[in-house]
Amino acid sequence: MNLQFTEEQMMMQKMVRDFAREVIAPQVDQLEKGEFPRDILAQMGELGLMGITAPAAYGGSEMDFTSYIIAIHELSKVSAVIGVILSVHTSVGTNPILYFGTEEQKKRYVPKLASGEYLGAFCLTEPSAGSDAGSLKTKAVKHGDYYELNGSKVFITNGGEADVYIVFASTEPTQGTKGISAFIVDKDTPGLFIGKNEKKMGLHGSKTVQLTFEQMRVPEENLLGEEGEGFKIAMANLDVGRIGIAAQSLGIAEAAMNESVRYANERIQFGKPIAANQGVSFKLADMGTAVEAARLLVYRAAHLRSLGKPCRTEASMAKLFASKTAVEVTTEAIQVFGGYGYTEDYPVERYFRDAKVTEIYEGTSEIQRMVISRSLE
Ligand code: CAA
Repeated sequence: MNLQFTEEQMMMQKMVRDFAREVIAPQVDQLEKGEFPRDILAQMGELGLMGITAPAAYGGSEMDFTSYIIAIHELSKVSAVIGVILSVHTSVGTNPILYFGTEEQKKRYVPKLASGEYLGAFCLTEPSAGSDAGSLKTKAVKHGDYYELNGSKVFITNGGEADVYIVFASTEPTQGTKGISAFIVDKDTPGLFIGKNEKKMGLHGSKTVQLTFEQMRVPEENLLGEEGEGFKIAMANLDVGRIGIAAQSLGIAEAAMNESVRYANERIQFGKPIAANQGVSFKLADMGTAVEAARLLVYRAAHLRSLGKPCRTEASMAKLFASKTAVEVTTEAIQVFGGYGYTEDYPVERYFRDAKVTEIYEGTSEIQRMVISRSLE
């Protein structure tokens, strides 16, 4: 694996770093109050960040997958909220249409998603189907030229704000995972109801909602892929989506480490910076090592994906390790900051709250271990 970024990738890194520092950082407090970052997303659309890997023919920036991962990593150092919105919008909101859509579906949706005019969301999880995604209960019944969907979804990132929803429902309940189909649903479809926005521990500027479908009519031309292909579509896109969440985790961990190093060198106790104490400097050393290991796993998975090679196991390993690193490093960062770390005056408590969910969404750490262990058999 080449550990050096290409010139194009370095340009992406610089552009996103500058944007995050100049545009996002001043708005982090607003995001913490739960304000959805419409304005930031619009600017990201203008910069080509909402369709980084989409082909130019569909209005995308046509850059490689590693460039996309660089963007999520850099954005998440400043705001994990923006990191997750972009990851869900791209990996599981737009890519299912790009990889499994008809030419007509691609032409209709991808240019608007890639420009940021539309925001995407992914609707798989249900109240009784989380890790066991294949047991979903939402039903889709064909009547003439449309499907009628009934059911409900939970924990839908970007829900309520998104314009396009990739919805998974069972068209053949007796067939288990092979009876699941995928649909592209426009936000104004009658019968689509946006429910409660969850009050979360972290990621306050990101929306996480419940959705209900009541006799929701989806035209047959909005079936994505073939009937019964839905579970495969969900899993294939989650494989790749998990690298995005791993990059988000890496960004959070790196930000917490950088803040800890800075603070430990400035904070004087007993007449010297606290970094001069082995108890603190060893914490920093462990943070640095874990962040570096996470970086290697994240960019290895991204590199394989950029080459078009299989990366399911590597993606799960990257997500498992990077999310664990984010939780551990942010916990230790609060310890380095002491009492100040427990207050909202410093960003480490936000990093800590934002980190935890990376071990949960897009497949819990336990699910990643299942995927990894199956590949080792
Ligand atoms: N790619 C393509 N096909 C796949 C696949 C993949 N990664 N994984 C499984 N499949 C196929 C299998 O090959 C199998 O088909 P065949 O029978 O033809 O071989 C079929 O799907 C069923 O596979 P399994 O028997 O392995 O399915 P399972 O029910 O045991 O589940 C699982 C496997 C890996 C545990 C899966 O259920 C899973 O990943 N669960 C976690 C769900 C998840 O990640 N949810 C996240 C929600 S989205 C989210 O969080 C986004 C957000 O908002 C931030």
